[in-house]
Amino acid sequence: MPLLIRNGEVITADSRMRADIYCEGETITRIGPRLEAPPGAQVVDAAGKYVFPGFIDPHVHITLPFMGTLAKDTYETGSRAALIGGTTTLIEMCCPSRTDDILAGFEHWMAQAAGRSACDFTFHMGATRFDGATQSQLREIVRRGVSSFKVFLAYKGAFGIDDTELYGTLRLARELGVVVTAHCENETLVFERQRELIAAGRTDPGQHHESRPPQVEAEGVHHLMAFAEQTGAATYIVHLSCREALAEAVAARARGVDVAVETLIQYLVLDKTYAERPGFEGAKYVMSPPLREAANQPVLWGGLREGVIQTVATDHAPFDFEGQKRMGMSDFTKIPNGIPSLEERINLLHTHGVRAGRIDLHTLVNVASTQVARMFDLYPRKGSIQPGADADLVVYDPGHRGVISARTHHMNVDYSAFEGWKTEGRPSVVTVRGEIAVRDGQFVGDPARGRFLRRTPSRA
Ligand code: URP
Ligand code: ZN
Ligand code: ZN
Repeated sequence: MPLLIRNGEVITADSRMRADIYCEGETITRIGPRLEAPPGAQVVDAAGKYVFPGFIDPHVHITLPFMGTLAKDTYETGSRAALIGGTTTLIEMCCPSRTDDILAGFEHWMAQAAGRSACDFTFHMGATRFDGATQSQLREIVRRGVSSFKVFLAYKGAFGIDDTELYGTLRLARELGVVVTAHCENETLVFERQRELIAAGRTDPGQHHESRPPQVEAEGVHHLMAFAEQTGAATYIVHLSCREALAEAVAARARGVDVAVETLIQYLVLDKTYAERPGFEGAKYVMSPPLREAANQPVLWGGLREGVIQTVATDHAPFDFEGQKRMGMSDFTKIPNGIPSLEERINLLHTHGVRAGRIDLHTLVNVASTQVARMFDLYPRKGSIQPGADADLVVYDPGHRGVISARTHHMNVDYSAFEGWKTEGRPSVVTVRGEIAVRDGQFVGDPARGRFLRRTPSRA
């Protein structure tokens, strides 16, 4: 059924206008003032609301076997929560362990998503080892429509690779025109610091950030940048958390290294004092890199405003407090890492970014949608409002007032890191390729509408 979104204020990364949007089939076909709705068309009145392109989360984990347990969401729960929060496309990290076959891993991750996702999805392929066989499998995965890899400089033994493997992966990526996303922390420093802290009896969640200070992350970024410079590969630093790491990326960029930077909504609004909360409450706030001194937040917001940081993701990694986070009761190194936030990213960016005067609406769209689409070969199909683009639209009510709670969120996890926080604004209607998926905080769509998005490397 055709869809007409009427009377909204259409906000893109670089424009703002009052206009109607007409969608036929899966795409936007017309944009203009006072468009007519033919008989049978579905009409959404967006008066007093913004209309944004569907948001894209460039870094999520849905299927994640990690630290002896499994992340809680499935595509059924995760994609609905994403849509309710305004995210219409997920880019998931496909993370087979070092002992797994890479191609089998890709097929396993795909099987978890195919036919089970309410929103569109694609993957960053984890290059969790690199040898002759892996190399030909990575080529095959690129042929199947994946145009980004993921490497871990941390988590050695699980996902982490050594420098020879890093070099090989970057060389291959350069040849194929694939961008390499990277978790940057020096694993040896983390491991040694963890050992010292535990030996000294410092076992509580507040020690997590002591084991991974900013220099550990800055060294990881510096390390990746040296390898990127030597290979000429395009790189993307995931979940950058602090001033020191950003300075390394900026310095490399000034030398001509091809590097983009992602930060997370958690680093923008939470700081390390949350992980120091007593009574093991801090475990809810353990993730890597860790939450930082609050003084880093203005640096990150400024980076978004100035275009130094390109994207905001969630690194959604949902582990229950009861039963999972508690695995680290007597040893912080055993707390599964991650702060779930897939559903909250846009409302938090709007509340603490736009409403607080830290970023404008165009920056919100740019860092949470358009820039992601450009970076990962999805633009202009995703990340834009123009004829021919997929009709993924978010009619956003800036006047809505809400309160975040685990009792009402849709992610399959037993706590919220933002429990009781007030929000300003929420999606009132969300569409997935021309079909309404969300109305006023409720999922009303087709639970299996999501499709795998084939991507072709644009840097080839
Ligand atoms: O703490 C985090 N970030 N958990 C998920 C795994 C990762 O490092 O991305
Ligand atoms: Zn990571
Ligand atoms: Zn991650």
